Order: sequence, then structure tokens, then C-alpha cells
Amino acid sequence: MSNTEPVVLGIESSCDETGVGIVRGNKLLANAVSSSMDEHVRFGGVIPEIAARAHLEAFVPTLQSALDTAELTLDDIDAIAVTSGPGLAGALMVGVSAAKALALATGKPLYGINHLVAHVGVGVLEGTVLPPTFGALLVSGGHTEILKVTSLTNDVQLLGSTIDDAAGEAYDKTARLLGLGYPGGPAIDKAAKDGDRKAFRFPRGLSLPKFVGSAENPGKHRNNFSFSGLKTAVARCVEHFEANGEEIPVADIAASFQEAVVDVITSKAVRAMQEQGLKTLLLGGGVAANTRLRELLAARCASAGIALVVPPFSLCTDNGGMVAALGAQLVADGVSPSGLEFATDSSQPVTNIVLNSRS
Ligand code: KG4
Ligand code: ZN
Repeated sequence: MSNTEPVVLGIESSCDETGVGIVRGNKLLANAVSSSMDEHVRFGGVIPEIAARAHLEAFVPTLQSALDTAELTLDDIDAIAVTSGPGLAGALMVGVSAAKALALATGKPLYGINHLVAHVGVGVLEGTVLPPTFGALLVSGGHTEILKVTSLTNDVQLLGSTIDDAAGEAYDKTARLLGLGYPGGPAIDKAAKDGDRKAFRFPRGLSLPKFVGSAENPGKHRNNFSFSGLKTAVARCVEHFEANGEEIPVADIAASFQEAVVDVITSKAVRAMQEQGLKTLLLGGGVAANTRLRELLAARCASAGIALVVPPFSLCTDNGGMVAALGAQLVADGVSPSGLEFATDSSQPVTNIVLNSRS
């Protein structure tokens, strides 16, 4: 065997996806994912206890499936990486306990790593070459963040994030209001195709001058997002039609809601890249599947001279491959493993890329 790059097993369980991925260096060998999404449908959102129980049931089969696909056994693995946070506490605990058990049984080094940075780390797979410093925009049911990445393994900075709902969460809640199914993102994306995005002018959260300030004198929320006002505006709009006994123009509301989300996300992300002098933006998270987000972000990045990198969709949503990818970078950079003593951290800050054994 001529290949000496580290083989890393990555475990993800921060929300409703149980993911086990295997990479060799920057090459993805397997990416098995089991989702409990169907079990949450009737509640219209992820129920933490159900997610944790589903991880418990799915872990061993998902691990076996990843090993089978990669045609490897645990003996071939050089290191194990697991999401330690941020995420749902009970869900994280299942993945971390499983990872510790595997590390203990096999004697392999274990890394407890940051889920958000793993979403970015996935960008090095599949032959994509990222510049030394770049930006990332993460948009999913659990997060909406703009990051500046100077080093994937030791320098990630949070430029902005949502102060209330995540973008995907806003999609899910709005879809419920409009009587569309769960998950709401794909349902609104589809409905919006037949609607007029200018039919209603819904609020762009935290876009007023008092929040954004200027480049020289930035406001507190220059790079932050808020979607709760938008959700309320859609609710009032729906109530208005109901009160008048009129049919609710679902497609127009969906298209106008989507435009408000996507307009504010793309304009804030591109402005942050420009102000930080960043020339490459990586997009990640489940909302990266959104047709209009991709279209508007691509157009705005192009006119600002920013290269947009969008990994394949299966790597944008939560998966173990991204955890393995970041783990392999840590191994390659000679970063010390976390040991077996660390605890999960459901609000792990993005600056804490890898836990050390005393944290
Ligand atoms: O990354 P992900 O699979 O899980 C986490 O939340 O971490 O993202 C799921 C979110 C859901 O809120 C879903 O509604 C949203 O991504 N989503 C979309 C689309 N597809 C999935 N949002 C907008 N448009 C889509 N096409
Ligand atoms: Zn995620």
C-alpha cells in the first residue's frame, strides 16, 4: 500500500442525522447517513428526545454500512473524530459516547470537534482547493452564520449569526403557517416557483441603519440576522386573508418570504466578504439546496468578484464525512487528540475547533 495519508472515521449526531463517514486524507471513502426526519414530521420540527433515541438505534448499522462501503475494518482506521457540539445535548451525547467506546476498544486517538467548522472542513474533499483564508456561509435548520476561516485547524472567527431563528427554522415555521409540509424548506422552494416574489414586501431583519451602521462605524448587528419579525409578518398577512374570507395566495407569500430571507442573507454575506477582503465564499447547510439562494448568491458573488464554492448537496447537510474531513486535517496538522475525558458542549463556540482533554 503506497498510501500513507491518515484514514479517519467521523461521527455526527448533533441533530436528526446519524452520520458515519470515512476519509483518507482529502478523499471521501464512505458517507453513511441515517435520518430520523420522518419521525419528526407530525410535530413539524425536530424533537430532541426522539432524535437521541433514533441515534442510539441507528449508530451501529450506520457504522457498519460506512465500513462496508469503504471496504475497511476498524483496524484500518488511524483516528476517530466526533461532533462534540454545538447541537442537541442528548443527541450529541449518543455520538460522543459511541465514539469514546470505539476509541477505548480500538486504542485509536479521538478528536472532539466543532460541528460548524466541520461544515466548512468538508470543502477540502472532492478535489476542491480552498485558499488559505476564506469565508463561509452556513445556513440550515440549526444555524445561520458567516465565518472567516484563516486556518481550518486553529483560526476560525464568527463574523455574524442569527439572534433568533435559524433560516431553515424560519422556512419550517412559515411552511406550517401556509399549510405546507415539513420540512418546510423544499416545500416553500417549490411553491415559490409559481409565485411573485414582489407580491409582498416582507421585512429584511436587522437591515436598518441603526443595526448595520457603516463600514467605518459598524452597528452591533451589521453581520447578524433575525427572522422572527419576518415570521410574524407572514402570520399577519395570512390572518388578513383569513379574516376577509379570501383565499390565501400561498405561492405569492412563499415567493415573497423566500425573497426576504435570501435577499438579506446574500447581501450581508457578500458585504462581510468585501469588508474582510475575502475572495472565496463556501456555502454549507441544508438551505444550500434552495434554488433562489443559490441563484442570488451566485449573481451577487460574481458581481463582487467573489468565487463561490458549493459542495455537493449530500455534503452540505449534516453528515459524518464532514467530521472525518476536519479530523483528517487535524491529524495532518499534528494537533493533539482530545483524549477520552471531554464532555459534549451544546453551545460550543466556533472558535473552539477541537476540544482538548482538560476542557
Ligand atoms: O443541514 P440540515 O439538513 O440540518 C440541520 O438543520 O442541521 O438542514 C435542514 C434544513 C431544514 O430547515 C430544511 O427546511 C432546510 O434545511 N432546507 C431548505 C431546502 N431544503 C432543505 N430550505 C430552503 N430551501 C430548500 N430547498
Ligand atoms: Zn449542521
